[in-house]
Amino acid sequence: MHVLVLGGDGRAHALAWALDNSASVDEVVSAPGNPGIAALGKRCIPVDANDPAAVARLAGEIAPDVVVVSAEEPLVHGAADALRTHGMLVFGPGADGARLEGSKAWMKAVLAEAAVPTARHASFTADQEDEALAFLDRLPGLYVVKTDGLAAGKGVIVTDSIDDARDAVRAYLSGQAFGDAGRTCVIEEGLTGPELSLLVVCNGSTDGWPLAPAQDFKRIGDGDTGPNTGGMGAYSPAPVMTPQMSERALDEIVRPTIAAMKRLGAPFRGVLYAGLMITADGPKLIEYNVRFGDPETQVLMLRLMSDLVPALVAARDGMLKSFDLRWYADAALTVVMAAKGYPGTYLKGTRIDGLAEAATLEGVEIFHAGTAADGDRVVATGGRVLNVSALGASVGAAQARAYAAIDRIRWPEGFCRRDIGWQAVAREKALTGG
Ligand code: AMP
Ligand code: GLY
Repeated sequence: MHVLVLGGDGRAHALAWALDNSASVDEVVSAPGNPGIAALGKRCIPVDANDPAAVARLAGEIAPDVVVVSAEEPLVHGAADALRTHGMLVFGPGADGARLEGSKAWMKAVLAEAAVPTARHASFTADQEDEALAFLDRLPGLYVVKTDGLAAGKGVIVTDSIDDARDAVRAYLSGQAFGDAGRTCVIEEGLTGPELSLLVVCNGSTDGWPLAPAQDFKRIGDGDTGPNTGGMGAYSPAPVMTPQMSERALDEIVRPTIAAMKRLGAPFRGVLYAGLMITADGPKLIEYNVRFGDPETQVLMLRLMSDLVPALVAARDGMLKSFDLRWYADAALTVVMAAKGYPGTYLKGTRIDGLAEAATLEGVEIFHAGTAADGDRVVATGGRVLNVSALGASVGAAQARAYAAIDRIRWPEGFCRRDIGWQAVAREKALTGG
């Protein structure tokens, strides 16, 4: 089996790493890939993943048995459609399914069609500022303003200040904050409760196949403070997600959505990522993503005992009943190291040392998310740069290993949160009296 991983982020590295461990895989090629994937001995081929024609051309040359798309943008631009037109087996939805992530207003319309519980909300276009501000006034004390379009996880403001919410609405609708992505915005009531990521492998027709639950950390600062980011860390398993809660979320949220997508003529194939909040009234849908979570995938791939390939191949119509996913009981945790300044502007090209030494620690894997090779050195090129990940007998043990590895990495221009996994670690301490 020859697999093409389309992407160069930390999740693409984690997928390439898992596929490398698969008995059924002969070759993994990545485009564009990254220095971490190259260090696994995998071929990395440059490509503009957001250009469907270029992606199809490249896949035509490589002739993989299956293509896995890591990020949302290529999917929203139609990479999976272009590949399927050329007869390729692709893991990921076409542009119609990817609209679930590409337009939050459309996603909310699907939720209404599927009667899925979500926050009270309304969508507004650039010419509706007065109506948008009036809607804000009708919400209780926690306000959420979101761009309709993609904004790399940064287009959401959650605030208890009506003035800040009003400023956000004006900045979004005028295009000042996020350009066209924000000229339509969604305003909604703020919900409270623990957040969970439930990723479900879908084949377009049947119920879907849940992966192990994971919890990610969206805010930039310790204690879940500061602006939203693309994700600063994650761990799995997530104790909040009991088997009963998982079944409830599948029943009330995921299955009705899969059925609605089919009715709407956009059957969903690939990974449907349900971002859930467990509120006092039960699970509610915060967002859908149409691909593997980042950095959830990094911890899920560490915990995955089964071969990933059957899951990828099974996401074809009618083929999803025939495989099982098994997970190691160990916990996995990943900490994102980001360039100082992220999620705002940050320096590029700064040098990172100590990676090889850090990676020798027991249970540790370091996935590259925003790096480039400069001769034999690694330099930071992105906002989120490294995913320092570890397995351990408990979340606390995995956390200690990940931070021990981070302490060996020499990168003065980088930083990370120091509290990833804190809820689970506190719970473990309470249970063991430690
Ligand atoms: P989204 O991109 O829609 O997932 O939003 C990013 C993050 O903003 C979520 O992971 C939540 O932490 C937060 N958020 C989004 N919508 C809400 C909401 N209705 N209530 C509270 N927090 C929210
Ligand atoms: N972890 C958030 C995301 O993948 O969008």
